[in-house]
Amino acid sequence: MGFGLIYKRLIFCVAFAGILLFHGFCSSDHQGTYAGPKYTFMHQATSAPAISYYDYIIIGGGTAGCPLAATLSHNATVLLLERGGSPYGNPNITDLSAFGRALSDLSPSSPSQRFISEDGVISARARVLGGGSCLNAGFYSRAATKYVDGAGWEGRLVNESYRWVEKVVAFEPPMKQWQSAVKNGLLESGVNPYNGFTYDHMPGTKLGGTIFDPEGRRHTAADLLKYANPKGLTLLLNASVHKILFRIKGKKRPLAHGVVFRDGSGNKHRAYLKRGSKNEIIVSAGALGSPQLLMLSGVGPSDHLKAHKIGVVLDQPLVGQGMSDNPMNAIFIPSPNPVEISLIQVVGITHFGSYIEAASGESFTDNPTQKDFGMFSPKIGQLSKVPPKQRTPKALAQAIESMKALDPAVFRGGFILEKVMGPISTGHLELKTKNPNDNPSVTFNYFKEPQDLQRCVQGLKVIETVIESKAFSKFRYDYLSLPTLLNMTANAPVNLLPKHANVSTSLEQFCKDTVMTIWHYHGGCQVGKVVDSDYRVLGVDALRVIDGSTFNYSPGTNPQATVMMLGRYMGVKILKERLESNKSN
Ligand SMILES: Cc1cc2nc3c(=O)[nH]c(=O)nc-3n(C[C@H](O)[C@H](O)[C@H](O)COP(=O)(O)OP(=O)(O)OC[C@H]3O[C@@H](n4cnc5c(N)ncnc54)[C@H](O)[C@@H]3O)c2cc1C
Ligand SMILES: *[C@@H]1O[C@H](CO)[C@@H](O)[C@H](O)[C@H]1NC(C)=O
Ligand SMILES: *[C@@H]1O[C@H](CO)[C@@H](O)[C@H](O)[C@H]1NC(C)=O
Ligand SMILES: *[C@@H]1O[C@H](CO)[C@@H](O)[C@H](O)[C@H]1NC(C)=O
Ligand SMILES: *[C@@H]1O[C@H](CO)[C@@H](O)[C@H](O)[C@H]1NC(C)=O
Ligand SMILES: *[C@@H]1O[C@H](CO)[C@@H](O)[C@H](O)[C@H]1NC(C)=O
Ligand SMILES: *[C@@H]1O[C@H](CO)[C@@H](O)[C@H](O)[C@H]1NC(C)=O
Repeated sequence: MGFGLIYKRLIFCVAFAGILLFHGFCSSDHQGTYAGPKYTFMHQATSAPAISYYDYIIIGGGTAGCPLAATLSHNATVLLLERGGSPYGNPNITDLSAFGRALSDLSPSSPSQRFISEDGVISARARVLGGGSCLNAGFYSRAATKYVDGAGWEGRLVNESYRWVEKVVAFEPPMKQWQSAVKNGLLESGVNPYNGFTYDHMPGTKLGGTIFDPEGRRHTAADLLKYANPKGLTLLLNASVHKILFRIKGKKRPLAHGVVFRDGSGNKHRAYLKRGSKNEIIVSAGALGSPQLLMLSGVGPSDHLKAHKIGVVLDQPLVGQGMSDNPMNAIFIPSPNPVEISLIQVVGITHFGSYIEAASGESFTDNPTQKDFGMFSPKIGQLSKVPPKQRTPKALAQAIESMKALDPAVFRGGFILEKVMGPISTGHLELKTKNPNDNPSVTFNYFKEPQDLQRCVQGLKVIETVIESKAFSKFRYDYLSLPTLLNMTANAPVNLLPKHANVSTSLEQFCKDTVMTIWHYHGGCQVGKVVDSDYRVLGVDALRVIDGSTFNYSPGTNPQATVMMLGRYMGVKILKERLESNKSN
């Protein structure tokens, strides 16, 4: 946020000081801090009764869980259980300029929980109401029409659901010089046509949406709870679900009928479904949380469950399979001229399955002494200077330490990144412990499939032409050619050309050695494998999974628009079914 804006806010707040209406806006202890709506249905889990009953119990108040709960609350009683706290009033979440602060906070009360895949890439999962939409880089872009058709979704309801989401959380970002240069560079490189500002997914180059408003304040899936019927919803924070309870009678399919959760003081509570054939438990705990919780509840590969002394409800070998993370590789381009602070705004949608995006700024903090690389900082685990398996805590600490010694001028510049579409490579997830708050073990197998690697190399080649484009000339040093850029060992956190590679393999090795995450990991409860096309868990009754764990491929260039849309979309579908069954009864 610029000084101009702070000044404007000051004038505004002084002018209205006598009017308490603007209390939340003006009284913040940090500029940009947003007290947020006062939800009457939001409580700490410690205040919950030992036993309670609802029509729907939703596990996980994340990117999908919030719009789902808001929708269902209109015609049913809903309990929404979120293991984290509220995002409101926390500048680490609400301020654009604070991007990365939550991700570098490793305390147990942090809204972000770090995890390291078996591949060695350092990542993060949400632990807060609003889920990943409270931590992410904000880029908002819909899935392609082809993706929607492929998923078997109803196009009209999909569009209505996107619009329902967009009314509250999506904005047009300000397009400044550096992002414009990337945009024009993409067009010069042949990523055509220019589609202007749009939420739609179209080949070519476009300016996408963002969940940051023009003041740099983040709007999250938690804001979608404004749509809720307060009488139909109970939302509990610090409510960590440990188990889904099943009723197993004779040869009948196991029936989900309740959950066990623990509050912030460690006390156990139970919530059950009310009687009614349409009532359900819905798991929206994210790509790590959902397969993990199914396994902890006895739905998963029986050998694996038995090894952890978990009673088997249903032998389901596909729970935890099909985990994927889209590889991200980036090139840092030092700039002779100042650049704006920006997160992702422009995207190049190539025809070969690679998305080109960019972020700029010396630092994403307002404090000039806090030199940092934002989205690509070792502080948040993005250590691409060494190959994944060498990203040890010691290596991270060293990288953070050496960043402190660098001249601030080194941080002037920006990153152009490419993300591999799909991807095709998949991996798997297993339990490490029986505690749902511990990370499971997850393997993504980046670049296992040669086509993913090829897409990375092709993406890097486009980035090279963008850097060398006329449009981008203001933001590059002329003497820094790509081979030199990729050989900058000392200064940038990336761009380290692998020493063991020869010229013909160098970009491929660069892809493997510098792979990072763009945090679009998904899978584990995939459609057709663990859930059916209505997101019902196969082989059991009254249980669905609705979130990013159900994706076979990551939707759009970036998934959050579609994750939120899916929560709304399925809420509407489930209520329709409910009304129809009421009529026929
Ligand atoms: C740093 C970062 C940057 C990103 N950048 C972008 C971007 O710019 N654009 C974009 O489109 N996407 C981006 N993404 C991806 C996007 O945010 C995620 O794909 C999306 O938020 C996933 O939604 P979800 O509903 O599947 O899971 P989540 O939003 O993670 O929701 C799961 C929720 O369940 C809760 N939970 C888990 N287990 C339990 C339990 N046992 N009991 C109770 N609650 C539980 C969690 O606390 C969490 O709130 C980014 C993600 C990250 C982390
Ligand atoms: C709720 O139910 C009423 C009828 O009982 C119906 O008219 C209304 O459309 C329903 N609302 C939603 C959001 O489905
Ligand atoms: C959750 O509970 C823990 C332990 O009681 C507490 O330290 C923490 O502040 C709580 N979180 C929130 C958001 O209240
Ligand atoms: C913000 O994050 C920093 C670390 O990045 C942490 O020290 C601080 O406590 C966090 N503040 C809040 C309000 O969570
Ligand atoms: C949904 O919207 C997209 C554009 O955003 C449009 O191309 C598509 O035809 C619409 N689908 C339906 C079924 O209306
Ligand atoms: C990278 O730098 C090293 C040491 O400065 C040099 O020997 C090597 O030729 C450079 N490689 C490329 C591809 O520029
Ligand atoms: C370069 O790498 C390729 C593929 O690994 C290999 O076949 C070739 O022999 C290497 N060339 C040199 C000069 O090392």
